[in-house]
Amino acid sequence: ALARARQAIATHTRLVPDFPEPGIQFKDLTPVLADPEGLAAVTAALAEAAGDADLVAGIDARGFLLGGAIALHLGVGVVAVRKAGKLPPPVHAERYDLEYGSACLEIPADGVSLAGRRVFVVDDVLATGGTLNAAIALLSAAGARVDAAAVVMEIEGLPGREAVRTAHPDLVLTGL
Ligand code: PRP
Ligand code: MG
Repeated sequence: ALARARQAIATHTRLVPDFPEPGIQFKDLTPVLADPEGLAAVTAALAEAAGDADLVAGIDARGFLLGGAIALHLGVGVVAVRKAGKLPPPVHAERYDLEYGSACLEIPADGVSLAGRRVFVVDDVLATGGTLNAAIALLSAAGARVDAAAVVMEIEGLPGREAVRTAHPDLVLTGL
């Protein structure tokens, strides 16, 4: 599955020059996930990293696309880790730093029981690691065990993997 996923990513990723800033080349995964074989391969490859998880958490926004597919593949449920202000109360919230300023992620504090759950966290991209670290911290604070996380893509030249390792030394982080 991993080889097929890497092939699909290499074939279908759309390179967008000067987005979101001049000099930055954005890697758009839209065509990868819009391709049936690409979606299947990426889903299967990420699912291999889930360990013994019994719930998948997808991070806002493209992590939702992956999270639902992976959960179905694994035969478990899915929960959304959302940007602030989207979920109905009650929520658990965690603020995290961005390059400029900060942002906030939330998970439901009701409707899904997280205590003692083994949660696999997924997102599309790892950059500084702030988003993934905040999601793991949130789920952990709610009583979940997060042993594994996965992203499709890691941005070269940024310390995301190092930041996640520092904050969560025992977590297994998979990138395709
Ligand atoms: C992007 C990406 C990751 C996050 C990674 O999301 O989808 O979620 O940045 O960055 P980090 O490792 O530096 O935290 P973004 O917050 O831009 O929003 P979106 O997913 O809603 O597009
Ligand atoms: Mg995101």
